Amino acid sequence: MKILTSPSETQTHCRARRAEGKQIGLVPTMGFLHEGHLSLVRGARTDSDFVVVSIFVNPTQFGPSEDFGSYPRDFEQDRRLLVVEGVDLIFAPTVEEMYPPGSVTAVEVAGQLTKGLCGASRPSHFYGVTTVVSKLFNIVSPHRAYFGQKDAQQLAVIQRMVADLNFDIEIVPMPTVRESDGLAMSSRNRYLSPEARRAATVLYRSLQLAKERIEDGERTSAKIIDAMRELIEREKPARIDYIELVDTNRLEPQELVHGEMLIALAVFVGQTRLIDNLRMRVPD
Ligand code: PAF
Repeated sequence: MKILTSPSETQTHCRARRAEGKQIGLVPTMGFLHEGHLSLVRGARTDSDFVVVSIFVNPTQFGPSEDFGSYPRDFEQDRRLLVVEGVDLIFAPTVEEMYPPGSVTAVEVAGQLTKGLCGASRPSHFYGVTTVVSKLFNIVSPHRAYFGQKDAQQLAVIQRMVADLNFDIEIVPMPTVRESDGLAMSSRNRYLSPEARRAATVLYRSLQLAKERIEDGERTSAKIIDAMRELIEREKPARIDYIELVDTNRLEPQELVHGEMLIALAVFVGQTRLIDNLRMRVPD
């Protein structure tokens, strides 16, 4: 397995693999890998001849009061895990290599897709994500790129960007990987104290409650959200950022649930902000 930090060397290396006729799969990550990331890597390994994993904690997607400095990092452990998965190349640039002095260009997906849900409380987040992902796409030129459905809004934003900017890349969504008690895997779970870790299962439990209410015939979003809110507020360390029922294409809030829906929420558990979601097809 090769490790490169230079964007231009990585670009040259990946172009050479493409010229040899290799199918390239890219898994963009911020490192501190867990089973969720590894499921993306396994997807890429199955579909591709040459698998690239990028490890880059991208400063432009963190707000000024967010956890860029303390975001968990363990390159050696990531490297060991990726050797086992048979990855061909780790691209792990420094901040200076990705954003050299004088770089001022950004990619922005405008409108509701980035304004609602996480975009409301993290206004510059998706702008940072789409900029770095465009750079990764240009550096690696993958045939396919793999993203987890846990970050449902990120996935929708990237799919929009790829369509709008004519990137010739297939975006492959991969299912959320969960702990045995339902908590969605996330590098940020490591911040949770034992009490917060127990309380954090309430995100998954609230999604299951919403699903049950919808299956029992409830269609009014406000009532479903109230039931979720009531369950979450029983957990002392939990503080709701948002709970929304939106359509899966435009991510517009729906007063009545119908069709392809996304139930999405963000909850602070202690100091840690966690997100989760559930996709449902609701018969009209
Ligand atoms: O999902 C993530 O880990 C990041 O947002 C991504 C896609 C690697 C961009 O920095």
